[in-house]
Amino acid sequence: MRILPRPQKAERVAGQFVIDEQTTVFCHPDFQSIAEQFVAKVNACSGLDLQFCERVEENQIHFVLEQNDHAEGYKINISQTCLTVSAGTKQGCFYAMQSLCQLFDLHIPHQQLSTVNYYVEDYPKFAHRGQHLDICRHFFGVETIKQVIDLMSEVKLNKLHLHLSDDQGFRVQIDKYPLLTEIGSVRGGSEVVRDGQRFVDETPHSGFLTKADVAEIVSYASERFIDVIPEIDIPGHMVAALAAYPEYSCTGKVTEVRQKWGISKDILCAGNEEGYQFVCDILDEICDMFPYEYIHLGGDEAPKDRWCNCPKCVEKMAELKYDSYAQLQNYMLEFFVSYLNQAGKKVIVWNDGIHAQTSMEVVSQVWKPLTRNQGIKQANAGRPTIMSPFFHMYFDYPYGMTPFKKTLKFNPLKGVKKHAKDNVLGVEGALWTEYIEDTNKLFFNFLPRLDALANVAWSGIRSHFNEALAGRFAHYDQLGLNYNSRAPKQRRSLRTINRFFKVDSYTEIHDHQKYLEKQQQKKDK
Ligand code: ACM
Ligand code: ZN
Repeated sequence: MRILPRPQKAERVAGQFVIDEQTTVFCHPDFQSIAEQFVAKVNACSGLDLQFCERVEENQIHFVLEQNDHAEGYKINISQTCLTVSAGTKQGCFYAMQSLCQLFDLHIPHQQLSTVNYYVEDYPKFAHRGQHLDICRHFFGVETIKQVIDLMSEVKLNKLHLHLSDDQGFRVQIDKYPLLTEIGSVRGGSEVVRDGQRFVDETPHSGFLTKADVAEIVSYASERFIDVIPEIDIPGHMVAALAAYPEYSCTGKVTEVRQKWGISKDILCAGNEEGYQFVCDILDEICDMFPYEYIHLGGDEAPKDRWCNCPKCVEKMAELKYDSYAQLQNYMLEFFVSYLNQAGKKVIVWNDGIHAQTSMEVVSQVWKPLTRNQGIKQANAGRPTIMSPFFHMYFDYPYGMTPFKKTLKFNPLKGVKKHAKDNVLGVEGALWTEYIEDTNKLFFNFLPRLDALANVAWSGIRSHFNEALAGRFAHYDQLGLNYNSRAPKQRRSLRTINRFFKVDSYTEIHDHQKYLEKQQQKKDK
């Protein structure tokens, strides 16, 4: 059975259900639009044109509104004569519909729509089932983001984390500061690893989301029960913004959107009141664009070199009587947290942006390889956390470095004390795009890791996973997406890692292409 993520409970029952010309749909009014989506998918797959019916009869698909213990849960009960979907919410019904599409293989055109009968009772283990996408290092626009949303929704993910600002690009329209995109979204070249060398090429790169683009993305995501989390990274990873408005840096001399990857010493000045206002103004517009209650404020990788040498920052330290610059970063974070709280928003930051004194309602997104333990400690100490550990959930690295199996076997609750398990809100995959220049590589790195992530986030049950994954592969083939078909068998490979960092960051995708060509040659013989 091909439901993926694997359901909490699925029991085989006698018989099979066939969708044919006589099958009708009976539906609670709340679920009408979802039932219509299902009917459209049946039509696209098989040409059958299912009719809605006002009364209960045989050979029917029912969409029933019924109290469920889980807001996102659903049940599917299939008998010889009737297929009943029940859920307490539209979201639960939507997930049931996704499961039905997988049960009947609706992603692939065929005539005989049938499934052996099952009783399915399903609900998610985690409330936060997220995917992060960096559109700063390389810009990906509305169409690609919608594709990502579609893929996420099919496997019941519910949070899209959009990384909108970084050293190498500021990627969202802010009316009050037009230079953020006029200057900040354009760079003259990019660091590449190619032909055995690492160098900065001279190919300009640019792009940003307009307000209309954001509205389109947010609405598209919302129709698929996905909240969009915007990330404005502060105080580090701000070179693109500071290149547009250098007066908010410590030196006043930041002039170029960064072309190299890595960590810049140029960060937002912590001693300039106007710099705080600058960020508040940006956040005002971000809050208007993104309705979800959480805003991500980054907080990662903020070296304090500039602050130590900046008269304004040094003065601020003295005024606040601090003895460490980490306290100053926390002061800044708390400033924006209370600003956002007043606007009814809550805050997520990367775990290295959390300080001992950070308010306990600030969510920690745990990523750092050496501080996963810190993340576990944070959860055990009562802080809400999202688990995105580097060695399991960073999908920007080759499969030879972060094997698919490691993602699939990740247990977000490992090490977390029983009393603190509810503090783990969930799990999120990260797609940074330093070494992802195009959608071909984006999808190769993302698929099928998305399926592993979804499984971890939804149930963690791995029985018959590969059987279900085969259904996803057929779907990716149908969509014409480049995915890593060898991922389930791939192991860690030092050669691949070495080549990725030093020879050609596209090595793995080239190798896969050669493999596919060989497979094709074998078939043709
Ligand atoms: C991160 O990877 N810098 C959060
Ligand atoms: Zn400063």
